[in-house]
Amino acid sequence: MADHDLSPKPACESYVEMTEIVLPTHTNALGTAFGGQVMAWTDICAGIAATRHARQIVVTASMDDLHFRAPIYQGEVVILKAQVNRAFHTSMEVGVRVEAENPLTGERRHCSSAYLTFVALDADGNRVPIPPLVPETEDEKRRYEEAAERRRIRLERRNQDRNVVTRPHSPLSRK
Ligand SMILES: CC(C)(COP(=O)(O)OP(=O)(O)OC[C@H]1O[C@@H](n2cnc3c(N)ncnc32)[C@H](O)[C@@H]1OP(=O)(O)O)[C@@H](O)C(=O)NCCC(=O)NCCS
Repeated sequence: MADHDLSPKPACESYVEMTEIVLPTHTNALGTAFGGQVMAWTDICAGIAATRHARQIVVTASMDDLHFRAPIYQGEVVILKAQVNRAFHTSMEVGVRVEAENPLTGERRHCSSAYLTFVALDADGNRVPIPPLVPETEDEKRRYEEAAERRRIRLERRNQDRNVVTRPHSPLSRK
């Protein structure tokens, strides 16, 4: 039984916008942002959105296919926008859009988008229910509807290799 607030929350309450700059440490040999760095920023931005919705500890369960549509160059500004699309029982889907901004002109281009699923956990690592999400705008309603089909597909794909998944205990745990 949940002892936290499970009243429905508007989607916009979870909105996160994060701004980064591509430094030399973020780049590959071509001087463009390393894909793993963009993935890490994407995961962080989405995780904050999920936490804002759930107000619980969340872990990343999955990130759907991620396509890098355009490179991001050293010195460019990276803008990540994330919002929860739909909450299920203990999990929620978060959408993230990544844009690059030319710092001298302000011109922006769409570089990648991703859907991530987060699961809410209590301090003992047990899954906990999260509040339902209320989509309000037309875009939020469309994303909410589409999220159900994406969930169906990702769980089907996850179940295909379910038999090789194990859940080990932490080597640092005293339990
Ligand atoms: C994510 C995790 C908690 C799910 O636990 P589980 O026992 O495998 O989960 P279940 O099959 O009972 O599903 C629990 C919920 O997670 C969702 N879920 C589980 N695996 C998922 C996946 N790969 N993709 C999307 N959703 C997933 C289920 O749909 C379900 O959602 P619901 O409660 O809203 O209906 C567990 O797999 C885990 O701890 N993974 C490691 C997380 C991690 O270390 N992340 C990286 C660092 S944050």
